[in-house]
Amino acid sequence: MKDFNFYAPTEVVFGANSEEKVASLIKHYGGHKVLVHYGGQSAVKSGLLDKVCGLLSDGGVEAVKLGGVVPNPRLSKVKEGIEICRKEGIDFILAVGGGSVIDSAKAIAYGVPYEGDVWDFYVGKAQAEVCLPVACVLTIPAAGSEMSEASVITNEDGDVKLGYSNNISRPKFAIMNPCRTFTLPPYQTAAGVTDIMMHTMERYFNPDCDMTITDEIAEALMRTMKECVFAVLKNPEDYRNRAQIMWAGSLAHNDVTGDRGNGDWATHQIEHELSGLFDVTHGAGLAAVWPSWARYVYKENVSRFVRFAVNVMGVPNDFTDPEGTALKGIEAMERFYHAIGMPINIHELIGREVTDEEIKEMVRKCSRNYTITQGKFKALKPEDIEAIYRIAK
Ligand code: NZQ
Ligand code: ZN
Repeated sequence: MKDFNFYAPTEVVFGANSEEKVASLIKHYGGHKVLVHYGGQSAVKSGLLDKVCGLLSDGGVEAVKLGGVVPNPRLSKVKEGIEICRKEGIDFILAVGGGSVIDSAKAIAYGVPYEGDVWDFYVGKAQAEVCLPVACVLTIPAAGSEMSEASVITNEDGDVKLGYSNNISRPKFAIMNPCRTFTLPPYQTAAGVTDIMMHTMERYFNPDCDMTITDEIAEALMRTMKECVFAVLKNPEDYRNRAQIMWAGSLAHNDVTGDRGNGDWATHQIEHELSGLFDVTHGAGLAAVWPSWARYVYKENVSRFVRFAVNVMGVPNDFTDPEGTALKGIEAMERFYHAIGMPINIHELIGREVTDEEIKEMVRKCSRNYTITQGKFKALKPEDIEAIYRIAK
């Protein structure tokens, strides 16, 4: 068994009306003047933004608003936030939204005390020593950013999407009210569940595969998500199942279902180039890549794919044909993606064939100019990454 550190310092405040506690939580974690950061329109339309701002004002917490974060959050918005925080003397950032808003908040938090360009952290030129405290009111279960150390930002200059991980930016608290997810459109609901399952799958398909307790937790989470998603697609106001998805989103990415450092992450890296270039929804991009990744790598550890097929996808185990069982598991996952409205290849994702030039550009970026491999289950060289894009075409 590999050694590991488990660090999940975020206070989770879960339940209906949990946002009522927002002002006292901010004060508890030392905030006086807050940047309330949010997205395009959902938090405004639902009244959540007004409610949070009212609660802050009633609780004696000063607030400055900055909205307009788009999915695949942009560096320019981060820089705008950094300027505002410096000018206004902000000492706390509250993200009201999903992964994009939280990731943008984390980037602003790194940037405020840093004299250089915040992008330095994302390209590996610098490590952040300090950052402003961040917290969130989560509105979409998906990215798991509410408990994670990661922030993924797109630099519009070259459409480069890069992640930066640092424990100092893990949210101080995460308010999770499942009722706030009732308004999610079916596509975002399904993409969110796909991302949640994939955060566990990236950890599950690791090179060691030797921890039963973690595997069992992971399989239970994935099976549960497969059921819950159909329930909420049928009835968007199903509190019980919305709540299960919301909590699973955090568990899938806070390392309870496996150590991030030992996971594969190739599907994520290959997808990040798709959402960087085509501005697609991250979870949908993962669904478009995973089956091709799986078919390309399953022979590295057929029994792992058999276990996944049987324990997660419910495929009968044909002991005489392990490869056949493994492949049936991948096919079952494709059927599941289609059943929830997700694509299973790039054509379905972007509505057209991806061109040779686009594949070459994504391979170059994904391999950081042909200098690194991606993935641990099988270390993918640039030619392997290219092969997967071509299978996924
Ligand atoms: O902008 P608004 O109007 O709020 O609409 C959003 C957005 O269009 C909408 N939405 C959110 N909550 C809603 C709602 N619509 C109706 N009702 C609600 N309650 O949903 C859309 C997607 O939101 P977004 O925040 O982009 O979704 P998600 O949480 O999936 O975040 C995706 C981003 O997170 C990154 C992805 O790469 C992507 O950029 N990731 C971050 C990770 C991390 N920090 O640990 C890990 C992930 O693997 C992922 O890479
Ligand atoms: Zn993800």
